[in-house]
Amino acid sequence: MTELLEISKLIRERFSCRVYRDTPIQETKRQALMEFMRTLPAGPFGSMAHFSLVSATENDSQALKGLGTYGFIQNPTGFIIGTMQESKNDLEDFGYQMEQIILFATSLQLGTCWLGGSFTRSAFARKVEAGPQDFIPAVTSIGEIIDPGEARQGLLRRQINADQRLPWETLFFDGDFSQPLSPEAAGTWATPLEMVRIGPSGSNKQPWRVVKDGNQWHFFMQRSKGYRENTLTRFLGVADIQRLDMGIAMCHFELTCCEIGLTGHWATTPLEIGPSGNQAEYIVTWEN
Ligand SMILES: Cc1cc2nc3c(=O)[nH]c(=O)nc-3n(C[C@H](O)[C@H](O)[C@H](O)COP(=O)(O)O)c2cc1C
Repeated sequence: MTELLEISKLIRERFSCRVYRDTPIQETKRQALMEFMRTLPAGPFGSMAHFSLVSATENDSQALKGLGTYGFIQNPTGFIIGTMQESKNDLEDFGYQMEQIILFATSLQLGTCWLGGSFTRSAFARKVEAGPQDFIPAVTSIGEIIDPGEARQGLLRRQINADQRLPWETLFFDGDFSQPLSPEAAGTWATPLEMVRIGPSGSNKQPWRVVKDGNQWHFFMQRSKGYRENTLTRFLGVADIQRLDMGIAMCHFELTCCEIGLTGHWATTPLEIGPSGNQAEYIVTWEN
């Protein structure tokens, strides 16, 4: 993943960009993105999504016609559309892969926004000629940032406005869920955990919880109440967004470990530790 050096810098720089400059994405950036997507390896659980960049160009400003986003996004000049087929842990893999593309786009100074619900699935599926077995868990709007200076100011604002993310003691634990893990106690691992903490998530719900157990880091998903039970969203084919969030957390954790030279690998381990009364669901373990 040589293109993703300085990963923690990119993770800090990324933000949900919902207004774009009204010009096509530069051709060199389009080519670089497409090459990155073409060579992206499968996710940690082994499922492989297929990603396409649909974008307006100088010659084709109609490319995005009919791709609705319910007014949340202004002037998108492109979308990254991912399709996949159902498999175990497909959504975690999708979150992991899409987030890598987003970080790569951030390195090209492009703005992005994950869209899990606010887009017309059928139109996007038609655009990429998705087959009957394919589904689209989410898409990402993409384009040139209107004012990079303003974006940087936003970065500062976000760093100061730490209350946009849950505190360490809510997210990270030592041994079991009764004992919070402080950054000091996490030592070298504080940076990968911090990169999990500042990651994006659907409606900023931040479902990730991590329990340190010796040389193992167990990742759990703490579902937000009422978020998945909504029958309308299920009916509309909206993916289980919090599982995408878990894939994003895995991506940030692993790539940051790699950046600072901490080796390890993903495993699924039968667990002794219980979630001690809360509803956290075990997803995966990082072993170093
Ligand atoms: C899986 C996923 C789905 C999301 N879906 C939407 C969406 O449909 N519409 C939207 O405006 N933002 C969406 N977001 C963006 C989040 O609201 C945003 O990441 C969160 O509020 C944190 O803000 P930040 O990305 O600027 O750090 C989504 C984010 C994720 C990770």
